Amino acid sequence: MKGIVFAGGSETRLHPITQAVSKQLLPLYDKPMIYHPISVLMLAGIRDILVVSPPGDLPWFERLLGDGDQFGISLSYAQQSRPNGIAEAFVIGAEHIGGDSVALILGDNLFHGPGFSPLLRRKAAQLDGCVLFGRPVDDPGRYGVAELDHTGRLVSIEEKPAVPRSDLAVTGLYFYANDVVDLAKNLAPSQRGELEITDINTTYVERGTAEFVQLGRGFAWLDTATPDSFLEAAQYVQVLEHRTGVRIGCLEEVALRMGFIDAEACRELGERMRSPYGGYVTAIAGTAPTRIQAATSDPPQTRP
Ligand code: DAU
Repeated sequence: MKGIVFAGGSETRLHPITQAVSKQLLPLYDKPMIYHPISVLMLAGIRDILVVSPPGDLPWFERLLGDGDQFGISLSYAQQSRPNGIAEAFVIGAEHIGGDSVALILGDNLFHGPGFSPLLRRKAAQLDGCVLFGRPVDDPGRYGVAELDHTGRLVSIEEKPAVPRSDLAVTGLYFYANDVVDLAKNLAPSQRGELEITDINTTYVERGTAEFVQLGRGFAWLDTATPDSFLEAAQYVQVLEHRTGVRIGCLEEVALRMGFIDAEACRELGERMRSPYGGYVTAIAGTAPTRIQAATSDPPQTRP
């Protein structure tokens, strides 16, 4: 499975904060926001990731993340010239996806919860159509909203409905079979002129091949679409890290735990940064942290 992080969009809802710099480069407390979605794809076992951003911002993402080799992954970059909609990710990323399945994650989504990596890898391995991840929220009208029947089967999705049919938001993490590329290429823009991810998802719902995975109560999902949600996400990271002593969305640690890099490489990454974050990375390299268990169908992880 290939990965795409969609880090574009015009983000006018956050102006002037995002007038000169891409939101996903901004910090959520101790690290750039884009670390979080990349870590999710890595936890899913994905090592080949395309970062899509507006042309002017690409050099900054490349400067931050490079070719990914330091994390034992491959990062490539592509531009979205205009915010033409989330489903354009599959058109821009068609070559990257090739004949593979694909996981798309929005660059402004943060996920945190127990057992996430095994869940992601299981769902990626069982994929037939699409897998959507949902979460009950207080303000469903801000999101794509899922409607389930009494058996828990997904029957409809509405984008930002005035009168939501449920409190179940569709999060910004999506797994698709390879046919999503053709679906996106043939998709007509919506009334607001965008290639809508909800239209793609609705096609899978109509075909009966959309699986809806409801993230449990102990699971946090935050986006950063408004100044308040942005600040809350940063505070969430800060409080959690202070109280538990572990960092979340730390790419070096995820790479180490997934077996993408070894302890020596992790230590070198930590020592390059003269910051508390760097100190944490150096320290975890010395403690031989527990490897995240590979699903039985996973290929060997460590690079030669
Ligand atoms: O966060 C989950 C929600 O994300 C879903 O529940 C909705 O169904 C989905 O449409 C989306 O809603 P948003 O209102 O958050 O979409 P927005 O246009 O703000 O874009 C979300 C992210 O995707 C944001 O970081 C920018 C990026 N993006 C968006 C568009 C439209 C792009 O990179 N390119 C784009 O063309």
